Amino acid sequence: MIEALRWVGDRDGHVSMIDQTRLPDVLIDLEITNPDDMIAAIRRLSVRGAPAIGVAAAYGACLATRGLTDAVEVRAALDRELPKIRDSRPTAVNLHHMVDRMRRLIDASDLTGCELRDRLLQEACSIQAEDRELCLMIGRAGAALVKDGGRVLTHCNAGALATGGQGTALSVFYAAKDAGRRFEVVADETRPLLQGARLTAWELQKAEIPVTVICDNAAGHLFARGEIDLVVTGADRVASNGDAANKIGTYTVACLAQLHNVPFYIAAPSTTFDFSLATGAEIPIEERSGDEVWRVSGSGPIPDGVKVRNPAFDVTPASMVKGWITEKGIIQPPFAEIRPEATR
Ligand code: MRU
Repeated sequence: MIEALRWVGDRDGHVSMIDQTRLPDVLIDLEITNPDDMIAAIRRLSVRGAPAIGVAAAYGACLATRGLTDAVEVRAALDRELPKIRDSRPTAVNLHHMVDRMRRLIDASDLTGCELRDRLLQEACSIQAEDRELCLMIGRAGAALVKDGGRVLTHCNAGALATGGQGTALSVFYAAKDAGRRFEVVADETRPLLQGARLTAWELQKAEIPVTVICDNAAGHLFARGEIDLVVTGADRVASNGDAANKIGTYTVACLAQLHNVPFYIAAPSTTFDFSLATGAEIPIEERSGDEVWRVSGSGPIPDGVKVRNPAFDVTPASMVKGWITEKGIIQPPFAEIRPEATR
């Protein structure tokens, strides 16, 4: 089983994570020992995917207090570092939810420095263990959607590399395979950083699930020829009405799916839902460096001085989503099954 990241050792330990920027060429672990390096790893996408960066953020809080024993110093370090970790990426809400969860723990306790640090580590490990369980439940909830002989398209990477467990969208495929179904996955390459070509293809090949990578702009052709019968993607944030932000290009796929009457599903745990937002229009969309747009082809094919934009996510309207595959089954807005009491 692929593990995107894990804590090594006791409260003075560190995080070991796969450097996803190097896959599939090199499988190498980064050893992260301080919050600045964790923030840098999140920003450059060494660790990525909404649930995985939530777990990384929780471990980042533990790294912030490394070596400290005095409760006042522990709290001061957390006051200083947690806001920086929270701001490391804007779109995936898991990151914010998990930093806030660590914050609540600190605010509610009057423990000594070392006791508090042990509690923080315990909480961060629980966040990862819970995510592992959520992934399995999502897989079980969605497996029946994948039919024998089916051709399923996915965008970006919503697998083990993107979570604390075996993934969200990819967990559905793993569960379908375990149920004995034979099917093929079509993975959009996912420009500009190629999470589909590099990461999804790598994961599925390892799992012995047949996978074909296509250029993002080949998807329409396959839909038009009737070669796709299901779409499942992950999400970075789902608003109260079901609008879902996911990797740039997901909305384009949803439009194609709607036009060709192909069911489009979002697979995401409750930790990816943001009930403080009414619609997807309120979801902050990360804009990344324009360098990423041309870097993939080596020297720039774009004439010097030409403006480049690189929005990293887009929002698929709820009306285009057939169902939201969660740990509570395939659900519909207003998501009473997973909505916290206070917002019901
Ligand atoms: O920029 P990334 O690679 O972090 O974007 C990741 C995605 O868009 C995933 O589809 C999403 O986080 C779901 S991960 C289970």
